[in-house]
This record gives sequence, C-alpha cells and structure tokens, in this order.
Amino acid sequence: MDKNTPTLTVPGTGAKIPAIGLGTFGSDSVDAQAVANAVRYALSIGYRHIDCAAVYQNEKEIGAVLKEAMDAGTVARDQLWITSKLWNDMHGEADIIPAFMRSLEDLKLDYLDLYLIHWPFPNYHPPKCDVSSRSPNARPYIHADFMKVWRKLESLVDAGLVRHIGTSNMTIPKLKLVLRDARIKPAFNEMELHPHFQQPSFVRFVQDSGIIPIGYSPLGSPGRPERDKTTEDTVDMEDPVLVGIARKHGVHPAAICLKWAVANGHIPIPFSASNRNILANLEAVCYDPLLPEEKRLLDGIDRNCRLIKGQVFLWQGAKDWHDLWDENGTITT
Ligand SMILES: NC(=O)c1ccc[n+]([C@@H]2O[C@H](COP(=O)([O-])OP(=O)(O)OC[C@H]3O[C@@H](n4cnc5c(N)ncnc54)[C@H](OP(=O)(O)O)[C@@H]3O)[C@@H](O)[C@H]2O)c1
Repeated sequence: MDKNTPTLTVPGTGAKIPAIGLGTFGSDSVDAQAVANAVRYALSIGYRHIDCAAVYQNEKEIGAVLKEAMDAGTVARDQLWITSKLWNDMHGEADIIPAFMRSLEDLKLDYLDLYLIHWPFPNYHPPKCDVSSRSPNARPYIHADFMKVWRKLESLVDAGLVRHIGTSNMTIPKLKLVLRDARIKPAFNEMELHPHFQQPSFVRFVQDSGIIPIGYSPLGSPGRPERDKTTEDTVDMEDPVLVGIARKHGVHPAAICLKWAVANGHIPIPFSASNRNILANLEAVCYDPLLPEEKRLLDGIDRNCRLIKGQVFLWQGAKDWHDLWDENGTITT
C-alpha cells in the first residue's frame, strides 16, 4: 500500500481497511479482461482494496491477477482487502454458501475480507436487461427472509472464511431491524454516495451504529449503463462549486469528489479502466486534503440525486423505484 494511503479501523475487529478501493463493475462497456488489467495496474501502484461482486462477471479474471501478484511477491495476502457480494438470485438457503464458495474460488483466495449482501431483495433479471424489465419472482424486503441469508453469512465468519460481513443498498428502517436481530453486526454498509447524493442522515446513522460506509459511484458514475440514466440526473463533476475547488487544487473534479468522500469518513471505491485516472484517484486521497471551508461548501451542494435507482428490482405491484428506498421512513412492501 502507498504509505500515504489513509486507513480506517473497523470498530468490531480492529482490522485496518484502506480508505480507497478500486471498483470493478465494468458497466456494459469494459470487459472482464480490461477490468482485470485495471486491477493489475492498481496493485502495482499501491491500491490494496478491491471491490468485487459475482454479478460483475469478472471475478475469475481478477482472481488470476490477485494470484499473479501474490505469487510474484508484489503483495502479501494480509495486505489485501478483497470484498465480494452475494447476488440477488442466490438468496435461497441452499444457494448462499455455494455462491460464496464460487466467488472465493474464482478470486483464488482462501478467505475474503468482506462479504456483502448486494441488494436486500431476492430476484432475478438477466444481465443488461431493459430498465422496464420486471421479474415475476421479485419480492419486496421481507425481514425474516433477509435474516436467513444473514445467518448464513454469520456462519461464514464462524468458519473463518470471511473476516467481516455487511449490507448494501439498505435504508435506515431495514438496517435497524438487522442491527436488532444480528448475532454478528454488519461492519460495513455499501451505499451510493457522491457530492450530489450525500444521504447525510443515513451516513450519520450508519457511523453512529459503528458501521463504516463504503461509497459507491463516488464520481457520480459517468459511465453507468444508458438504461440507468434519466433526464433528472445531475452531473457532480460539472458542479460549479466543485469545479472551482478543483481549479484551486489544480486537479480534475474527480479528485475533489474523492477528497470530499474521505473527509466525510466514507470509503470511496471509484472504478476506472484508465491507468492515468487510477493513479490520480489514489493520489487524490493520499495528498492535499480539502480545507475545512472547502468541505463545508461541498457539503452544501447535495441535490439528493440518486443515480442507481434499482428499477429492475421492483416487485409486481410496486409503484416505482422510490418504493425500494423507504423514503417515508418505513419499509415499503
Ligand atoms: N453495491 C452496489 O450495489 C454498487 C452499485 C454500483 C457500483 N458499485 C461499485 O462501485 C464502483 C464505482 O461505481 P461506478 O463504477 O458506478 O462509478 P464511479 O466510480 O463514480 O465512476 C466511474 C467512471 O468515472 C470515470 N473516472 C474514473 N476516474 C476518473 C478520473 N480521475 N477522472 C475522470 N473520470 C474518471 C471512469 O472512466 P475511465 O474508465 O475512463 O477512467 C468511469 O467511467 C463500481 O465499479 C462497483 O465496484 C457498487
């Protein structure tokens, strides 16, 4: 790890996690080998945290790169932080452990640092399906079912196969129930976070609960699939306040998004397939932090603009994507 990379300490275990990770969702445009090449380059310049998921369909290629780096002595296993996620079509009780083992095997590891439940909804939809696609088997959040999945993740911790477990795409009311009923509390919550979508009360709740927020799409996901774009979406990296601060620091606006994330205690996981951007993103969190006044200005540009709305996970009878996010503070069923 670049000796300047900040780390956060996980409250429950004392483990250190690098404060930036490399995202590995190639969207619809970057293929598995190109993502693996990005991981190889990232490891060579000091990244030690890689955010993977079975559904990104590139864990095999990434696993080959991890093995190569460890065999070459570039990195030791205990310096790496590798996350993976259980996909929505694997919530069945008999499916969870095999899905985990498949990720472990593809990544060529004998344990993971973090395993997340990718979304709290069981469903299946084909890769690259249209935004209006609905699975007849999709279900809303059913807490008892979620806890059955969680118990399996707890058993993976007991077995020494994963060091931490966590949630993703949750809401405050859902997480409250999980915190009430979990034997092993979630150590992390992965959530969409960028200057135009700050979720301040959710982040506060997460941090006050001893959970570390991992921020996905930290740059406002400019490369997200076309199907995930709507006319209301705003562009973080074009925000005049943010652009002004970037000019003062002499950096690309992307760097300011990442400095803002770190200043707020999030762990950003930017994706890039460009060596230049991968390096710039690491440097953004290692050097030249924001001044308190700059952080304050950026905290003020929130637009509550959710980009990853999750439309395809809607169940029959649901109104629209707002139903996934419990916006009135109670779980929508
Ligand atoms: N838990 C979940 O449900 C969930 C959901 C979404 C995402 N994620 C995770 O979060 C990661 C990041 O999210 P994301 O991929 O949606 O969006 P993002 O990281 O906000 O944006 C990635 C895009 O920004 C560009 N970029 C990266 N660095 C740049 C720089 N320094 N200057 C200019 N442009 C730059 C990249 O293009 P280049 O390749 O050209 O650099 C890419 O198109 C994913 O890869 C995935 O691991 C998790």
